[in-house]
Amino acid sequence: MKITVVDDYHKMSEVAARMIVSQINEKPDSVLGLATGSTPIGMYKKLIDYYKNGEVDFSNVITFNLDEYVGLSKQDPQSYIYFMYDNLFSHININKESIYIPNGTAEDLEQECKRYDVLLERFGPIDIQILGIGVNGHIGFNEPSKDLVLRTHVAYLSEETRKANARFFDDISKVPTRAITMGISDIMRAEKIILLASGKSKAPIVKRMLETGISTYIPASILKLHKNVEIIADKDAASFVEKRNCIA
Ligand code: PGA
Repeated sequence: MKITVVDDYHKMSEVAARMIVSQINEKPDSVLGLATGSTPIGMYKKLIDYYKNGEVDFSNVITFNLDEYVGLSKQDPQSYIYFMYDNLFSHININKESIYIPNGTAEDLEQECKRYDVLLERFGPIDIQILGIGVNGHIGFNEPSKDLVLRTHVAYLSEETRKANARFFDDISKVPTRAITMGISDIMRAEKIILLASGKSKAPIVKRMLETGISTYIPASILKLHKNVEIIADKDAASFVEKRNCIA
């Protein structure tokens, strides 16, 4: 696991976006695993800039999003599909048929999870998977738990996660209690994983993830078993990490 510490959010976004651009320029039909939340917004802005400057062409790219809230339709501004169009897809030349996001309003959620895994099998492996990290160490909506689920599934959001995400909703009661999320094995199958972490609020979990062993109670710690993971953290997020644990 490599950690690259950069000055600030702006730099983190730029470094991550540059890695994606290189990937697409090397392999125009790359499969990207994408994340939502506050952390990747700057990276998406950069990608839009690079696209507008003619530095990258998304026309053959395929994307898979990590997760979607159960019960929110694509017209709901809090749904992740809405977020992705708003922050990235509406501004680039991606083929809309090549965008995959779990359907949180599917009538049969179990079937929807299976459908998503079949698509991941068909188009995978993901070339670059972007991840954020929850303050509790979750990746996607794989929450701390005795057991982690391997494949795409319906997950119950922890109270900590619902509190953290309440900032996007009118009040916490409006935060969905469930989401469809790719599982740990779906994530670990990616060829390369980039985990982004920004801000002081992430400093304790970044330290725990790096400095304790592997634990299902810190889902991101599982990434230590992957051969190609890079954490791009800004100084604030990395401020509790001991220097000797920074390989980069
Ligand atoms: P954030 O969320 O980017 O909004 O901090 C990260 C996550 O919960 O995975």
